[in-house]
This record gives sequence, structure tokens and C-alpha cells, in this order.
Amino acid sequence: MMIAIDELTRFAQKIAQGDGSGHGFDHIQRVVTNAQNLLQATPAADREIVLAAATLHDTYDDKLVASVPAAKARTREALQAAGATPVQCTAVIAIIDHMSFKANLATHQVLSLEGQLVQDADRLDALGAIGIGRAFMYGGVHGSPMYDPAIPPRAGLTAADYRRDTTILNHFAEKLLHLADTMNTPAAKHLAAGRTQVMQAFVAEFEAEWRGEK
Ligand code: ADP
Ligand code: NI
Repeated sequence: MMIAIDELTRFAQKIAQGDGSGHGFDHIQRVVTNAQNLLQATPAADREIVLAAATLHDTYDDKLVASVPAAKARTREALQAAGATPVQCTAVIAIIDHMSFKANLATHQVLSLEGQLVQDADRLDALGAIGIGRAFMYGGVHGSPMYDPAIPPRAGLTAADYRRDTTILNHFAEKLLHLADTMNTPAAKHLAAGRTQVMQAFVAEFEAEWRGEK
């Protein structure tokens, strides 16, 4: 049986809409588009599982929902209602549970091929011009300063540190500029390298302007 992805899209839209921290429905749509592009280079991956997981990947994230267990139960119900078999449901939930940056800070999680693709698609949206825009949206909502040369980036970020706010420019050094090294698929590695160069140039320009050098 086919999973009705359009039903999952409407479910995800209700949860993501109104988010002003860079995780709105537009993020979900870009991750699905990235996943579709990566699928072309990885034909062995199961398309339905990839599209379902990409669509639902933030529906029970601690950034967006008050109760993760309750939201996870609703996500399972949405999958069942959209026609996913128990095996498909388990595959999609396992991807979402293990793909996040935070989950991987605690212990390294082994992902299915489909999970690797969705993780790459999500991480690509944290990079490049869009990644810069999203980091400033997130920092704005959290009241983070843009930059403070007196607050150095934290080395060896732990899961406990990760949700503690820092400056927005520190988030580049602590996480975003390292994401390209964590990409799973060759197609995503290539895209991530180009997007990372854009961010490195932005950080260098930002710091030079801050110091009054330009
Ligand atoms: P992932 O989607 O990689 O599992 P998150 O959902 O925690 O990770 O974060 C997604 C995006 O939110 C980041 O890539 C970044 O754009 C933004 N973000 C998260 N934490 C911060 C922060 N402390 N400062 C600025 N932006 C942040
Ligand atoms: Ni995401």
C-alpha cells in the first residue's frame, strides 16, 4: 500500500506553521525538496520512507512541541491514518528518533540508508545562505546576541550544552561549519562543501566589519 504523503504534509504543516525560529513549514518543504534531489543520486533508497520521514522529521521535536511523547504518539497515528504499514511506521519513527544533531551528540546513531538521506537533506538546510538566515531567526527568537568576541565558541559540544544559548556567530564555529564533514551521501557532501564556503566567507566578512577593518 502507498503512504498518502499529502496527508502527512497537512499534518506537519499544522505543527510547523507559526514557528519563527527557522523551523517553519518552509523548512519542511525545503528538506523534502533536498531529499527528492538526493533520491535521484541514491536510487536504492525507498522513496516513500524517505518522503514520509522528511515530511514528519520535526513533528515531535523538543523545539516545536510541548510534550515530545504526546506529539510522537500523534505522529504514529498520522502515519497509520495515511496508510503506512507497521513496518513502514517503525522505519520512519526510527529515522526521526536517531537523525537529529542532538541525538547524535549523546551517542552515535546508526541510520538506515533512507535515514542517512533525510539527515543529509535536513543538514543541508542548515548551510549556505539559507543556513545563515535560519541561524539568525533562531538566535533572534532566543534573544541571543549576534556576536561577542569576549565569548569564545565552546569546544567539544555536549548534548547538555547544545540547547544552552550562545552567540549566533559562535553557533557557526560550534556546529554549522562542521556539518559538511558529517554528510552521509556523496551528493550531499558535494552540495555541503559549496554551502560551507558561502558561510565561511560570511563569517570572515562579519568579523572584519565588526573590527572596523572594512
Ligand atoms: P538539527 O536539525 O541539525 O538536528 P536543530 O534542530 O537543533 O538541529 O537545529 C536546526 C537549526 O536551528 C540549526 O541548524 C540552526 O540554524 C538553528 N539553531 C539551533 N541552535 C542554534 C543556536 N544556538 N544559535 C543559532 N541557531 C541555532
Ligand atoms: Ni529540520
